Amino acid sequence: MGNRRQFLQASMLATAGAILPQGVAAPKTSGARVVSTWDFGVGANAAAWPVLARGGSALDAVEAGARWAEADLCNATVGRCGNPDRDGVLTLDASIMDGDGRCGAVAALEDIAHPVSVARAVMEKTPHVMLVGQGAQQFAVAQGFEKTPLLTEQARRAWREWLKTSRYEPQINAERQARPGDKTNHDTLGILARDAQGRLAGACTTSGMAWKLHGRVGDSPIVGAGLYVDNEVGAATASGVGEEMIRNAASFLVVELMRQGRSPMEACREAIDRVVRKRPEASKRMQVCFLAMNKDGEAGAFALHKGFVYAMHDASPGPHDRLHDAASVYRTEQT
Ligand code: GLY
Repeated sequence: MGNRRQFLQASMLATAGAILPQGVAAPKTSGARVVSTWDFGVGANAAAWPVLARGGSALDAVEAGARWAEADLCNATVGRCGNPDRDGVLTLDASIMDGDGRCGAVAALEDIAHPVSVARAVMEKTPHVMLVGQGAQQFAVAQGFEKTPLLTEQARRAWREWLKTSRYEPQINAERQARPGDKTNHDTLGILARDAQGRLAGACTTSGMAWKLHGRVGDSPIVGAGLYVDNEVGAATASGVGEEMIRNAASFLVVELMRQGRSPMEACREAIDRVVRKRPEASKRMQVCFLAMNKDGEAGAFALHKGFVYAMHDASPGPHDRLHDAASVYRTEQT
């Protein structure tokens, strides 16, 4: 067999997660995959993939992807361009977790551009899991993160506009607009990765619900709610109205359902059903979305309402950055 043919066959087998013939080294991308919430997940995946492609860890990959989203100047729902709370203060939440149960999180963090990296520092450099508010900021500065005002002029204008009504109503996100989070509600970046060694990791980062009460913390920095990862089973993350994820320990629930044998999509669907059963009326007016990947790299998603998309990137041939539509309970779509 010619070298090229042998290589191509080996790549195809590796991509499918099959056992390679003796003597054929696995490519560095073998079995690696990254999935992220929403259309901006395409950019996050593109930032994460080079890490996986050079044989790097899933943990480094998800941090790279989350940092990309936090720096995205078009995203009013994550990081430096996020919309503020009702007092006009931008507060950021983030978490990171690997498949061995190591995790870190920050909540209500102000004036630090990369909360996901502060979350990772909490995980790696402290005996704690979560730091909040002033304490999180003090820790970040002590770790060498720059303190800088983040609220953009655009976000300030949006807040002033909101003040005219001051109505807070977490509702169905404006999905499938050019930018899903550009309206009055948020969408979180949740990112899950599997590296070539079969290790899993995830990260979740958000500016939270626009116009929230000052001090409100959503699901994204809460391990088990907005993010959960277990190398034995798989990983899950969430987007949408975070109170529902917290009520249902939802990302943990999705992973536990996969442990019981559900596919990632079935597990997400069952978790959504749980949200509906608990709050059937409220479920008609708000968005909740789950994205999961099992330990073999199979991904699936489900949402309350139509419009949730997720992006997937791996080494398979064909167009990368494929966007996948998640099925939903309700077919509504806000216009
Ligand atoms: N899902 C993000 C939040 O509710 O803040």
